[in-house]
Amino acid sequence: MAAPVSLIERYADRLPVTPRTPRITLGEGNTPLMRSPWLERETGVSEVWLKVEGANPTGSFKDRGMVVAVAKALEEGATSVLCASTGNTAASAAAYAARAGLRCAVVLPAGQVALGKLTQAMLFGARVVAVRGGFDEALALVRELGASQEHTVVNSINPHRIEGQKTAAFEICESLGEAPDALCIPVGNAGNITAYWRGFVEAAASGMATRRPRMLGFQAAGAAPLVHGAPVAQPRTVATAIRIGNPASWQGAVDARDASGGAIEAVTDDEILDAYSALARCDGIFCEPASAAAVAGLRRRARTRALDGVRVVVCVLTGNGLKDPATAR
Ligand code: F0G
Repeated sequence: MAAPVSLIERYADRLPVTPRTPRITLGEGNTPLMRSPWLERETGVSEVWLKVEGANPTGSFKDRGMVVAVAKALEEGATSVLCASTGNTAASAAAYAARAGLRCAVVLPAGQVALGKLTQAMLFGARVVAVRGGFDEALALVRELGASQEHTVVNSINPHRIEGQKTAAFEICESLGEAPDALCIPVGNAGNITAYWRGFVEAAASGMATRRPRMLGFQAAGAAPLVHGAPVAQPRTVATAIRIGNPASWQGAVDARDASGGAIEAVTDDEILDAYSALARCDGIFCEPASAAAVAGLRRRARTRALDGVRVVVCVLTGNGLKDPATAR
């Protein structure tokens, strides 16, 4: 069997890499884009596609950005990477650091991380630091530690992360031969919506697509700072991956929303869990609760007749359900 083509190699001409950037890879990207007949029937949208990012090597979309961030850290002579995380960024950072021979430390909100993600980070050899408080407090600590220059911070405040993650938009345009009318995506720290928008803008500018989609972002109702327009002090939701009260890429999300004529809306935990189990039963796809927010949002828009002019939609399923089986049970 052929070795996997690294994401860095595949998109070298569209990423901030040089011939000296190490082509590390765990086989990230090139994830399935699957059609969902039941969602088409239910929503009345002609084509509903699911981008299955849980098929990435560590089980989430984070691998796209992490491979670039870790390769650039290596190129720049770093010896150690550091991040705050609700779990997936930590698992991804730990895996790529292991692959690259770098040390890794992750700062996690104590008691709020799905067991599968914590286990991944530990087994990949990361140093795990638990903080009292939530993700926002963990990120504040990482910003402080990162300022000392001893560690390279690989949260999405590291621009290489956003660059790597934009490749998912390229893949969607390549698969469909065009950009969709709308993209539905869960929003937590808001790096991914920022990255997809950049990817679609670049795809249109380079002739890969003739249009740009409306960006429809969805937050959990108990953790919806972008919907309220103000930080949330005590974010709460069953979708622990997006339990974030003060997203780092706030402005990027607002820009994506406004420049695309899109929206950022809230979905309830009940709507999230309903979409989560429906995706499993009707499509055979087990995603994370946070991922299901994208589909919950699409269904809500269909119910409220807010999908005018949308013929082709892509929902981003950001992570693999096996990371968090406790929620399913
Ligand atoms: N879905 C999943 C499964 C996630 O893990 C995250 C973020 C998101 C959606 C939201 O993406 O933050 O770019 O808006 N997880 C981060 C982490 C915060 O630490 O793993 P975002």
